[in-house]
Amino acid sequence: MTRGTTGINRLRRSDRWLTHSPLVRQVLTDALDPLVVDLGYGARPDTTLEIARRLRTIRADLRVTGLEIDPARVVPGSENVHFARGGFELAGLRPNLVRAFNVLRQYPEDAVPDAWSRILSGLAPGGLLVDGTCDELGRRCAWVLLDETGPISLTLAWDPFTVDLPSDIAERLPKALIHRNFPGEPIHALLRAADKAWVTAAPLAPFGPRVRWRSALTQLAREGVPTAVPRRRMRDNVLTVPWDLVRPNP
Ligand SMILES: C[S@@+](CC[C@H](N)C(=O)[O-])C[C@H]1O[C@@H](n2cnc3c(N)ncnc32)[C@H](O)[C@@H]1O
Repeated sequence: MTRGTTGINRLRRSDRWLTHSPLVRQVLTDALDPLVVDLGYGARPDTTLEIARRLRTIRADLRVTGLEIDPARVVPGSENVHFARGGFELAGLRPNLVRAFNVLRQYPEDAVPDAWSRILSGLAPGGLLVDGTCDELGRRCAWVLLDETGPISLTLAWDPFTVDLPSDIAERLPKALIHRNFPGEPIHALLRAADKAWVTAAPLAPFGPRVRWRSALTQLAREGVPTAVPRRRMRDNVLTVPWDLVRPNP
């Protein structure tokens, strides 16, 4: 049991990313009767209601259920969102998308593979899991996207105006990576490369941190980091890479 720390709009960066992710959109659009589970929503259900509102811009008929391991936190449904007691077994539901934010961080690193496989085995065919972490105000965030085969990608997302360096996200990495940020590990190399690109893009600072990050991202892509530079204007500074680039050493 934990305090269940959460906050209004805390998970907005991840919600925005999910709403624009082609893969998430496809999974929710293709499903006959799509269901999203917000696992471990905490002491208040705000972030579950928020993800429901945002993802229903993709599918207005989306069913959303918040699950909590702590029965005292289960609240009555509202806005056509249901709440129930449940853990990694997903209360027997077969969701197309599970979001578990700031949940696995409470577990030891060696509990992550089992937790992932329990959740993944409960998904509907083709379903996705988002396992993420962020700070109290949701300014520094990181999440792993997984499908039934395992992790697909890592995304770092941060507030352009309050974060100095991409590597400031290190303290909010998901449990699978947070203990691996040291020389010789791929996540460490990625954060160093992102910082270097950010510093190199410093001449663009007068145009604002979003323009500067776009230039840094372009540079990272030129250097061979497999990341896309989004065509749309971004509110957040975001770096998404394939999991293979950051997979921890055995
Ligand atoms: C820090 S809160 C996170 C709340 C919210 N997701 C957020 O990011 O703002 C973590 C919550 O996860 C719940 N939790 C821990 N283990 C869980 C599990 N195996 N299944 C469901 N909920 C769990 C805790 O009871 C707690 O309320």
